[in-house]
Parts: sequence; structure tokens; C-alpha cells
Amino acid sequence: MKIDVLLGLQWGDEGKGKIVDVLTPKYDIVARFQGGPNAGHTLIFNNKKFVLHLIPSGIFREKTINVIGNGVVLDPAIFLDEITKLEESDIHLEKNLYIANKAHLILPTHRFLDAANEKKKGKLKICSKLKGIGPTYTYKIGRDLIRIGDISTENFIEKYETLKKLHTDKLDIKEIEADLAAYEKRWFKGIEKLKEFKFIDGEQFFNDALAQNKKILAEGAQGTLLDIDYGTYPYVTSSSTTAAGVCSGLGVAPNKIGEVFGIFKAYITRVGSGPFPTELFDQDGENLQKHGNEYGSTTGRERRCGWLDLVALKYAIDINGVTQLVMTKADVLSYFKTFKTSSSYTKNGKIFDYLPFEFNNDLIPNYNENKGWEIDISEKVKYDEFPKELKDYILKIEDFTKVPISIVSTGADRKNIVFK
Ligand code: GDP
Ligand code: IMO
Ligand code: MG
Repeated sequence: MKIDVLLGLQWGDEGKGKIVDVLTPKYDIVARFQGGPNAGHTLIFNNKKFVLHLIPSGIFREKTINVIGNGVVLDPAIFLDEITKLEESDIHLEKNLYIANKAHLILPTHRFLDAANEKKKGKLKICSKLKGIGPTYTYKIGRDLIRIGDISTENFIEKYETLKKLHTDKLDIKEIEADLAAYEKRWFKGIEKLKEFKFIDGEQFFNDALAQNKKILAEGAQGTLLDIDYGTYPYVTSSSTTAAGVCSGLGVAPNKIGEVFGIFKAYITRVGSGPFPTELFDQDGENLQKHGNEYGSTTGRERRCGWLDLVALKYAIDINGVTQLVMTKADVLSYFKTFKTSSSYTKNGKIFDYLPFEFNNDLIPNYNENKGWEIDISEKVKYDEFPKELKDYILKIEDFTKVPISIVSTGADRKNIVFK
């Protein structure tokens, strides 16, 4: 058996949470392989809405085991908040949520370092979600961090204090003392909560599961254009958001990767700073934001909106070896008489049909216009019921990318889904 992957092909928020939830009944195990609480994955069903940050999106299906994998960075305080909220909805996860021993811990001081780094950058700030992601991965690579497995060791507190000192030396401690003490209190409460869960040797667990023909889905966070190596650096996150990240993040070999579901919005959005050639500053952009409800699920920040960038989509497909595409938010385009897609860029008179090293807003998109369908598609249950204009749009994307679109999402609810 192989491990399937679902990951974002844009700048995040493509609808990964919803689609993982839809696909979960086909899987025995769902696992997060990278990122941390900077993720915000929304699931809507039975008139209820959940936003998950650290916990995989397979938790609402009772038979599935969910794993926070080795490549994830975990903040116990946020974990505690998330578990508490779920318990308030009578969802108890002690039996079907496992945590990998090699996942690293985000320390309270990492959050403060994140804020301090952003402040120093001034206008050049990344607009990080300030969950401590950058500093935590920096210290992980610097080999100065503690992991989930360390929690149950005798000298855990001593290790924690040593690291804390390393960080506070770099911070204006007077300014943050009270906030840090308050956060630390919650953090240690979170450590106690974590102890109620099963810690596993992740790589052993996944390889055993594959040998036993268990079906596994790896759930990506963020998106390919936010990848530390292949994203729009430096305006990226600090982890490997691509299919390669599944191997290092879960401890499985490349030849164990099966289907790669690449998910993208029918247009494109971005939260925070960084280049965005197809960004719209006009009424169309406002309409995408309004009808797509494009506000961050973690921070409520406005998402920048633009037309679908086919060059960037193809780039992300190649990097991940995508075998099937999932298009979300097709319903949002129902509000447009016509809409555009970009299939190359022009810069200084030169045409680019790929992402050049200098990826910036000097790249002027070359647009094609598409005819809209202007009818509500949210109740459609079969591909055959789609209007011709939507089918044409799907064919156009398939033709450009040479990858089939096998799932189309037509609304935020679990029910709004069409399999082709
Ligand atoms: P994720 O981070 O990739 O899981 O995506 P987010 O949850 O941050 O953002 C996606 C947003 O779009 C959420 O508010 C979802 O409820 C919503 N959503 C997902 N799929 C669709 C869709 O097909 N149509 C509409 N209108 N909303 C969708
Ligand atoms: P999901 O999983 C959208 C963006 C931030 C910022 C940059 C770095 O919900 O798709 P970080 O907090 O990682 O230091 O921020 O990356 N970013 C996301 N944008 N969706 C996400 O996750 C994101 N996670 C981080 O806005 O620009
Ligand atoms: Mg999100």
C-alpha cells in the first residue's frame, strides 16, 4: 500500500481541511506532516463550523486514526485550546489522535522571538501569523530544541530552562515578562494535556501501517508557493510544504508515495506580504473577496485576491508530482459574467512561461478571458449537471496542466462536492 497526499498548490487556504474531511472515510489514517498552528483548516457540516490548527482534519470520522507527524512543530498551549474547544462540542480524541515523538515543541519564547523578528524587519516583514513558526524551525535546524518524546524524560524542565535562557538573552525581557509568564502557564497546562495522548514512533508506525495495507492520507498545511525552498522566498513559511516534505515529515520513502491530490482555488488568494502578479485591486478583486468570504480563518485578516495563475499552478504541479487536481470555490465564479486566467507573464518585453528566479510584481500577467456561467452550482451533485462554461473552464485547466481535475468543490459545506 502507498501513502496518498493532499496538499495546497497556491499560497494556502485552498480548502485542504474541507477536502481531507470529504476523503477521510476512504482512509484508516490521516497525518499532518509539516507546519504547525499557523495552519487554519475549516470544516463545515451539520450546520457546525470547526477551524483546526494543529489537529488533522480527519478527526470527525470516528474510525480514522489521526497523527501529528514528526515534521510538525507543536505549541502545547494552542493544542490545549483546540482540544478544549472540541471537548466542548463533545468530541473526545484520546483514542484516535496520536502524536509523533520526534515532533518538535514551539516554546513560549519562540512566539516572542517571532514578533521581535517581524518588528525588526519593518516594512519588509513577512506578515507571519506570529505562532513562533520561523524561530522554532530555525532552532530545530540549529539543533537546539526539545521534542514531544522529551516530555516524559527526567530532565525535561532543565532542558526547557536552558533553551528559554538562550532565547530570552535575545529579547527585551522587561517588555515581555508578564506576557511570557502568562503564556508559560498555559503552555505547561498544555504539556499536562498532551500526556493524555498516545506518543508514537512515527516512522515505525507509518511503515508498519503500510506493510499492513492500511490506507494513509498525508494532509498538507500552507501551500507550495509558501514552501521554504520553492515558494516565493523570503515571503514563505519555514517548512517543506511539498510532497518531499511528506517523506521527511513522516519518515516514509519516496517510493511509498501514491496519489498526490493537488488542491487549488478556481482563482487565487494570498495572506500577508510577498509578490502576487495576478492580484486584483479593482471591483473584481472586491467581488472575489466578498463572495469567497476571503478572510483568514486563523487571524481574520483580509486575503488578497486575484485571477488564477496557470503558470504558478503548473509549477506547483511539477514540484509535487500531482496526479489529480481538486478545484475548490468554483461557486465563487458564479458571480462573474466573465473572468480571467493568466497563462504567461511578460517582463521587459520577454515572455515567461515559467516562474523565473526574480518572481516579483514586475511580471505582467498575460490574460485570457473565460465566459462565466452565472448560475448557482452549489446544489449540483454530478459533473454532467455542470453548466457548459464550467466544464470548459475545467477542460482548459486540464489541457494546460495535463493533469485531470477529479474533484470540484462547490461550497464550504461537506455536502458541496462533485466527483468527476
Ligand atoms: P485550508 O487552510 O486550505 O484548509 O483552507 P481554509 O479553511 O483556511 O480556507 C478555505 C475557506 O473556504 C474556508 O472558509 C472554507 O469553509 C471555505 N471553502 C472551502 N471550499 C469551498 C468551496 O468550494 N466554496 C466556498 N464558497 N467556500 C469553500
Ligand atoms: P493554511 O494551512 C495561508 C503565510 C503567512 C505569512 C507567511 C509566513 O491554513 O493554508 P508563518 O506564520 O508561517 O511564519 O507565516 O505564510 N501563511 C499562510 N497563509 N494559509 C496558511 O496555512 C498559512 N500559514 C502561513 O500569512 O505570509
Ligand atoms: Mg487556512
